[in-house]
Amino acid sequence: MKTKNTLKLEINNENLDRAGEIIRAGGLVSFPTETVYGLGADALNEEAVASIYEAKGRPSDNPLIIHISSVESVEEIAYLDDINDTDKIAKRDKNNKPSISRETKLKLMKKFWPGPITFILKKKDIVPDITSGGLSTVGVRLPSSKVARDFITAAKRPIAAPSANISGKPSPTRWQDVIEDMDGRIDAILKGNDCEVGIESTVLDLTGEIATIVRPGYITPKMIEEVTPVKYDKSLNINPSQSDFKPIAPGMKYKHYAPKARVRIVKSQDLAIRLASEAKNQGKKIQILDYQNNSERAARDFFARLRQMDRQEVEIIYVVALDDEELGYSVMNRMLKSAGYDVVE
Ligand code: TXA
Ligand code: MG
Repeated sequence: MKTKNTLKLEINNENLDRAGEIIRAGGLVSFPTETVYGLGADALNEEAVASIYEAKGRPSDNPLIIHISSVESVEEIAYLDDINDTDKIAKRDKNNKPSISRETKLKLMKKFWPGPITFILKKKDIVPDITSGGLSTVGVRLPSSKVARDFITAAKRPIAAPSANISGKPSPTRWQDVIEDMDGRIDAILKGNDCEVGIESTVLDLTGEIATIVRPGYITPKMIEEVTPVKYDKSLNINPSQSDFKPIAPGMKYKHYAPKARVRIVKSQDLAIRLASEAKNQGKKIQILDYQNNSERAARDFFARLRQMDRQEVEIIYVVALDDEELGYSVMNRMLKSAGYDVVE
């Protein structure tokens, strides 16, 4: 890949405008969001979007999320209507049952946007196939990070953005992590603060009969249930190689969040200490990661910690499991993937 001179931009109005210009010229800009750093391009420019996949080394059937800066702009790229004459498919799911109403979709958007949730909607033709990974649906997110929204506004374009890591590595939650993976591969990075949430957005599919979580995140089922009934896709948090469930989110099937170290999930602190001392006696460089069931802290810290341990050349990381509910469930989803579902009880 051709090496670029990646601009490292402090956050100010001039640099936000500059980043916007780079996007309009078809370039790639990494930007902070409240969840993780994104790798942005003009969502409607096929060549620019193609260069995202190239920079990340990402399989092209894995669709991108489109980021917008106002609720109103969602209808430029996706259908909200249940009944839509120009697109009869939008109103019915596979079993020909009525899909979630426009009113419910708007309620969800008003409640959770701006914020760490992505809604899967029926896409409009203006969105190129390459952005949606060839699907007829598209993920849309309005982030709460002010820098993210100012950047999207300055670009005057919807921004397609996956997490700004090399495919398969832990998502970046600090600008330094983006540099580690993307220096020379992208045109610019907006050097914002560390991400507050620290795991990627909840992805909620609204194209079926009932709202379905296809990627768990900071916004949990309990919160969504206040607006509409919700279910989890059955393929979540179980080892895909040992199940028949096909993931709804294409991205969930790939190897994810893997540091160089071996990661093992352990059910208790005692067990972690015992296993760690055994491995240490065998001359291994080990670390224990115990968040004492504080899932907010675990979410914020986990990806950055994996990267730090790689820099320290740790060989085995023992992660003490969190309670598998609400945000804990979402963080466990990332922990299990990073461990390749290696769980010791
Ligand atoms: O928090 C986030 O969502 C971050 C920041 C940058 O906004 N973005 C992010 O994007 O995590 P990415 O590309 O790393 O993950 C997007 C996930 C993938 O699992 C993908 O398969 C799923 O969302 N997805 C995207 N569009 C979809 C669609 N139309 N149907 C089902 N899943 C979709
Ligand atoms: Mg990602």
